[in-house]
Amino acid sequence: MKKIGFLGLGAYVPERIMTNEEWSQYVETSDEWITTRTGIKERRIAAPEQSTLDLAEKAARAALLDANLTPQEIDELIVATDTPEVYAPDTASYLQHRLGARNIPSYDLAGSGCAGFLQALDVARSRVSDERKNILVVGVELLTRLMNWKDRNTCVLFGDAAGSAVMSSGDEVSEILASAAGTDGSQSEILCLEVGGTRKPFTLERAQRGEHQNLVMKGREVYKEAVHRMAQVSQQVLAKAGVNLDDVALVIPHQANLRILEAVGEALNLPSKKLFINVHKFGNTGSASVPVALCQAREQGRIKKGDLVLLTSFGAGLHWASLLVKF
Ligand SMILES: CC(C)(COP(=O)(O)OP(=O)(O)OC[C@H]1O[C@@H](n2cnc3c(N)ncnc32)[C@H](O)[C@@H]1OP(=O)(O)O)[C@@H](O)C(=O)NCCC(=O)NCCS
Repeated sequence: MKKIGFLGLGAYVPERIMTNEEWSQYVETSDEWITTRTGIKERRIAAPEQSTLDLAEKAARAALLDANLTPQEIDELIVATDTPEVYAPDTASYLQHRLGARNIPSYDLAGSGCAGFLQALDVARSRVSDERKNILVVGVELLTRLMNWKDRNTCVLFGDAAGSAVMSSGDEVSEILASAAGTDGSQSEILCLEVGGTRKPFTLERAQRGEHQNLVMKGREVYKEAVHRMAQVSQQVLAKAGVNLDDVALVIPHQANLRILEAVGEALNLPSKKLFINVHKFGNTGSASVPVALCQAREQGRIKKGDLVLLTSFGAGLHWASLLVKF
């Protein structure tokens, strides 16, 4: 059987850095509060003229360059995002055109929050065939554009970014050895953006109350679920692959918050040097977080040929997903 996995990886983060101190101009907060509760020191903010498509395009082109492919060689395109270019059609339609790809099937995987990219990789892996060899997957969020800059409970947590991977088959790919994913819809209310759907359509009154940007987040419950689910799905994927955690060189979790990452490490009994962390630099970038971290880990020389790398994520839904990759 042919190996299926990554042929190329790419990432893009906007230039503008926003520090914790800057947030205190908008809400009653402090560097001390944000640092002790989340480990975040700064995040990136997209320029006013940039939209989701611009971020997605940059990450996609970086992954294609890394894979040594032209846009015409992509056979399918998936965009994981909760902050789309417009409400409809999906961001993938815009990206297909912007990249100059052929008229290939292109679609978004939306609404899975921070788990979106790994879910999309799992789908892409199952879709690679002789007919559809190269599938481009993008995780992109421009969260700071759509969130409520007056809600200190949520606004300080997020940042903007995009990451991408080309999934393909052949001897040269970094093989996906196993994947696992799951959903618990009974908990959807603990992390949810209600307004804008049919349950609570946009109205002038709701917008005037700022409800259109109200991200409902029960922080402590989300925290516990994030730790539990990322640790659990990591164990599942290792069991599926028949691999011991000792044999894994690096674990790259969704960068939600430093305390969550450390708790996942503890739950797995993982030595801290095997846990990749960049949340202090970028905050929570949703579905972009894992591919951005993966690219950074590779750039920093923390992934070598032959290494086993475990990716794990959790997001609204609740959804969770994990992949084990051999580089
Ligand atoms: C949000 C989170 C950092 C809060 O940490 P916590 O330890 O639960 O917070 P605490 O209970 O100690 O503090 C809450 C208090 O801080 C206040 N607070 C919230 N945000 C604040 C901020 N940015 N600055 C200062 N104070 C803040 C709250 O108003 C509350 O005040 P009160 O007690 O007077 O009501 C934490 O729950 C968390 O990380 N949850 C997961 C969030 C996440 O990762 N979401 C995405 C998942 S993909």
